[in-house]
Amino acid sequence: MNMLTNEITEFLQIEYPIIQAPMAGGITTSTLVAEVSKAGGLGMIGAGYMTPNQMREQIREIKLVTSRPFGINLFVPTEFNVVENKVKSKAANQFLNPIRDQLNLPHKNDFDISAINNAHETFNDQIKIVIEEKVSICSFTFGIPSKDVITELKQHNITLVGTATTVREAMENEKAGMDIVVVQGSEAGGHRGNFMDSYQESLIGLMSLIPQVVDNVRIPVIAAGGIMDGRGLMASICLGAKGVQMGTAFLTCVESGAHQVYKEAVLNAKEDQTVLTRSFSGKWARGIKNEFILEMRKHEASLPDFPVQNILTQDIRKASATQGQQDFMSLWSGQSPRLAKNQTVETLIKNIIAEAEKILF
Ligand SMILES: Cc1cc2nc3c(=O)[nH]c(=O)nc-3n(C[C@H](O)[C@H](O)[C@H](O)COP(=O)(O)O)c2cc1C
Repeated sequence: MNMLTNEITEFLQIEYPIIQAPMAGGITTSTLVAEVSKAGGLGMIGAGYMTPNQMREQIREIKLVTSRPFGINLFVPTEFNVVENKVKSKAANQFLNPIRDQLNLPHKNDFDISAINNAHETFNDQIKIVIEEKVSICSFTFGIPSKDVITELKQHNITLVGTATTVREAMENEKAGMDIVVVQGSEAGGHRGNFMDSYQESLIGLMSLIPQVVDNVRIPVIAAGGIMDGRGLMASICLGAKGVQMGTAFLTCVESGAHQVYKEAVLNAKEDQTVLTRSFSGKWARGIKNEFILEMRKHEASLPDFPVQNILTQDIRKASATQGQQDFMSLWSGQSPRLAKNQTVETLIKNIIAEAEKILF
């Protein structure tokens, strides 16, 4: 029992109302997730891009290290027009080839759209793993899963967490049966979770978003976006949130799987250096401005949709990371990079709690 115990810590069986944001793409290593849970928060696997086997492996790895609860996050598949994206991907490769030259990568001219696995099938396979491996908490972004999926997960007593960027999306999550909703403010790093309106209309600052959502749903609200320390945690709680979900703060931690170049980029970034871009993946996301974003800006509107553009830029992002240069990597970050530190998860959580207690007393 501590001063921060509330309905969310009791419901999730954690010590502190701190959730480490699921971050797909190798950042949420087993060590990061386990260390967060061991330190009293909730570790989350970002499984959006994982195969079912990779999911199974990581879940088992974490369970070997801790018996504390942790969660997993999946991307709800989004529809895209195959014919239109086929045309768009051809054009996008023309814009990407000069960048490939800079990285000594071979040109690509065609894109086999059929190579994209059936997203719905993959999603259903991922759900099966969550159930089979008995992960007790499952969160979603980019939409709300089907009624059938929700019913099945609930039958297995899995706690469901949705993502919302507006009041309407939060209400939709509640109506669909989500137990908790994460509200993602415009400050947030990484992909936007909006699924009802366009990204522009769904860019609500967290200070506006929390109380308006709290007034319109009965399920507990978790705040996400720009929160890095005890001040952010307490401010969120003052506005009616029951806890926080933090991404950027955990991404620069020692245990995170983010590339060293990426961590350094965040640690050296200022609040005015992050921008929204769809140039890396076809979906709007917040990251640190670099050469790739600036080069692709003029083509932004005509780029293919997620996940087509994400697959097209895979070779570029990978080569940029291997060559240790940040110019063509996706450097997702929230709007508070000045508050980021390279420290252990244990220190980060201890400091948040100490700051929160100082504010409380
Ligand atoms: C590198 C990175 C990857 C992310 N990947 C995911 C993801 O896979 N699933 C998800 O629901 N949210 C993802 N997010 C968004 C977070 O859940 C959260 O909204 C965000 O980190 C909050 O803003 P902050 O980074 O300023 O703390 C990601 C964020 C970052 C920074």
